[in-house]
Amino acid sequence: MATTSSAYRPAQIWLHWIVVVGVIVQIGFHDAIVAVLDAREAGQVPAATDLTSAWVHVGVGSTILLAVIARFYLRWRYGVPGHAAGTSALQGRLADAMHFLLYGLLLAMVVTGMLTWNGIAPLGGVHFGINIALFFAALAHAAAAVFNQFVRKDGTLARMLPARRK
Ligand code: HEM
Ligand code: HEM
Repeated sequence: MATTSSAYRPAQIWLHWIVVVGVIVQIGFHDAIVAVLDAREAGQVPAATDLTSAWVHVGVGSTILLAVIARFYLRWRYGVPGHAAGTSALQGRLADAMHFLLYGLLLAMVVTGMLTWNGIAPLGGVHFGINIALFFAALAHAAAAVFNQFVRKDGTLARMLPARRK
């Protein structure tokens, strides 16, 4: 992956946090779409409020997809900054692998969600499983960012925050 720029561009930073908020909304509010799927499988008409909330889940999920595509474009077009000073080669490779994994899990969530929602393949269980993996991967990723910022004091988190960019 390209590492040509000296800092994340504002668009990369905003898209990162838009995706974070989107994932929190998706994981926090999924009962309605599960209820709609259950009603469909039982041959019943889903409740109107559940249907509305289900479309919000689909809409936020689709926004995450667009944000990820935009982030790939920005990576390709402008690159990303190299790792903070003092990062060992192994730590750098681990961070790259984690970022790659996060992108993969996000795309896998969107694909399994879309296939299930559109009745193409019943992948709700897989969607749920990947969601657990995404949750723990994001948690480890956030912990690493906070550790690097406040224990190693290498400015890793600051460069993903708009107000604190140098
Ligand atoms: C990163 C994006 C997404 C996250 C984090 C997410 C998260 C979740 C979670 C936590 C559930 C509950 C799973 C369960 O309890 O069984 C769920 C269910 C569901 N989501 Fe998503 N979702 C995302 C994107 C999408 C998209 C883009 C779609 C469709 C276009 C979608 C469609 C569904 C459907 C149909 C269900 C119900 C599955 C079932 O009950 O079989 N999701 N989602
Ligand atoms: C759903 C949750 C999250 C996802 C999916 C996610 C995803 C990503 C991805 C894919 C990258 C790589 C960007 C690139 O190089 O293209 C990244 C970078 C970064 N993320 Fe997250 N992130 C999440 C949550 C968080 C949280 C909660 C924090 C802070 C506490 C955080 C802090 C950072 C930082 C500091 C970077 C830059 C790392 C570096 O330059 O080496 N992220 N994130």
